[in-house]
Amino acid sequence: MSGSCSSSCPSSSTCSSKEEQQAQAAQQENAISRSLGKIKHKILVMSGKGGVGKSTVSVNLALALAKNGHKVGLMDVDIHGPDVVRMLNLKGALQPPATPDGLIAPLQYNDNLKVVSLEYMMKDRDEAIIWRGPLKREAIRQFIGDMDWGKLDYLIIDAPPGTGDEPLTVAQTIPLVKAVVVTTPQQVALADVRKSINFCKAVKMEIVGVVENMSGLICPHCQEVVEVFKSGGGEQMARDFDLPFLGRIPMDPQVVMAGDDGRPYLSTAADSPAAQAFASVVKAIELRLPPGIPSGPLPMAGGCASCSLG
Ligand SMILES: Nc1ncnc2c1ncn2[C@@H]1O[C@H](COP(=O)(O)OP(=O)(O)O)[C@@H](O)[C@H]1O
Ligand SMILES: [Mg+2]
Ligand SMILES: [Zn+2]
Repeated sequence: MSGSCSSSCPSSSTCSSKEEQQAQAAQQENAISRSLGKIKHKILVMSGKGGVGKSTVSVNLALALAKNGHKVGLMDVDIHGPDVVRMLNLKGALQPPATPDGLIAPLQYNDNLKVVSLEYMMKDRDEAIIWRGPLKREAIRQFIGDMDWGKLDYLIIDAPPGTGDEPLTVAQTIPLVKAVVVTTPQQVALADVRKSINFCKAVKMEIVGVVENMSGLICPHCQEVVEVFKSGGGEQMARDFDLPFLGRIPMDPQVVMAGDDGRPYLSTAADSPAAQAFASVVKAIELRLPPGIPSGPLPMAGGCASCSLG
């Protein structure tokens, strides 16, 4: 049956009946479940406010996991600041589906890393984006259901800061998605990040742990860590909320330069305190979400996230 109105109605060709809409929704639901069924761990990288290094952590986490031999997907759903494409210096555009299943291939950064960004839906990179909630929701659902992610060990999702439509859609669409919360040591960030943690509780999203970024500064002269803001705030907060602490990453000028040039730095094997700190954050996440094992409830929160005794 096509169209709920009679053929004399001027919109009969475009108006779809309620049944058609329901069928389409059910089809999308199936596509989403099929996609998610092949992905072991889904990680939403969250922060209370912008500028704390959430995209930096997302991109480098995806790269590091891929480098460690895992199959990884990176999904950038930050419409207001889609930085992933720039940070990875990705070229090219999404192509129409080539396979009979009609799925769209994500961009392939390397053998182990597939990337999709909302940036591909923007005509101009500098265009200001004004999207309403339902559109964002639909875009995110399509990014899951319509993309050929294939079998993945990890899907990393970079969402905008705060607790708006995007993290909510992710929480509602992806069962067993887990959060990595990024914060800086400053108090303001901490006040906001508490909201993120309460959001996770409200939507019953488990938290893998807390990362304290920009924790102290690496002196360019002697490579010693200089405490700029009081560090340790993120760790204290993790303790207060009984959450695992995944580690602290110092501020390193190389991170900024690398991010701007599209050469991610933290996930490289560089012999610097920041790169080493990041490697131990990645290790803590791999321990909490082992790549070979499908996602289930996390082991008890609290304890030490960087050793298996957690
Ligand atoms: N550990 C770090 N040391 C130095 N600069 C950093 C670090 N982490 C992030 N940055 C820089 O801070 C800025 C904001 O980071 P970004 O990842 O875009 O934050 P968010 O996604 O939370 O808005 C970027 O210029 C980035 O290069
Ligand atoms: Mg960002
Ligand atoms: Zn120095």
